[in-house]
Amino acid sequence: MELQSCILTRRSIRQFTDKVVSHETLEKIISLAAYAPSWKNTQISRYIAIENPDMLNEICKTYAPFNAGVISGCKMLIAQTFIKKRSGFERDGSYSTDREEGWQYYDCGIAAQTFCLAAHEFGVGSVILGIFDREGIEKYLEIPDDQELMALIAIGYPSQNDVPAPKRKDVQTLLSYR
Ligand SMILES: Cc1cc2nc3c(=O)[nH]c(=O)nc-3n(C[C@H](O)[C@H](O)[C@H](O)COP(=O)(O)O)c2cc1C
Repeated sequence: MELQSCILTRRSIRQFTDKVVSHETLEKIISLAAYAPSWKNTQISRYIAIENPDMLNEICKTYAPFNAGVISGCKMLIAQTFIKKRSGFERDGSYSTDREEGWQYYDCGIAAQTFCLAAHEFGVGSVILGIFDREGIEKYLEIPDDQELMALIAIGYPSQNDVPAPKRKDVQTLLSYR
């Protein structure tokens, strides 16, 4: 897909068909997401693909009720985690800049968007989910202490096509020159 079209036609997809995303397709998506830029090429983002229906149900019911409508209809949920204290940190553990913890979240955002655009290229719909019980899911998924859960990304084949784009701000609002 041409890049401009990929950017313009990617939508947050919240309803999916029953067709599962194969491991082969997921691995192609991850191999493209790996090309996202990151602080000093630290590549801190990690992905856990949850496909066990009982686990999906438990996450939906107990840890992410706000997003239950999305998660209950998806066959694969990606837990995006990151390795802590690398992006934006010096080797001695001190912050590199006054952004402190912020760069690790920035890196995850770039990685997540790269993931979603790559998924779209393969016809896989996605939606980034930010509302959930982070500590609860970290314990439930046994995420190691050196990692933090960043976001959930529900993926699957869209059951609706041509979902309209929520309105965007115009360039005059977004851009200024000095
Ligand atoms: C950090 C972040 C958190 C989000 N959290 C949620 C969420 O919890 N539930 C949801 O349905 N959508 C969530 N979204 C999706 C946004 O609502 C969506 O990207 C926005 O409305 C623009 O629509 P589009 O992605 O189709 O362009 C989130 C998106 C981002 C980037």
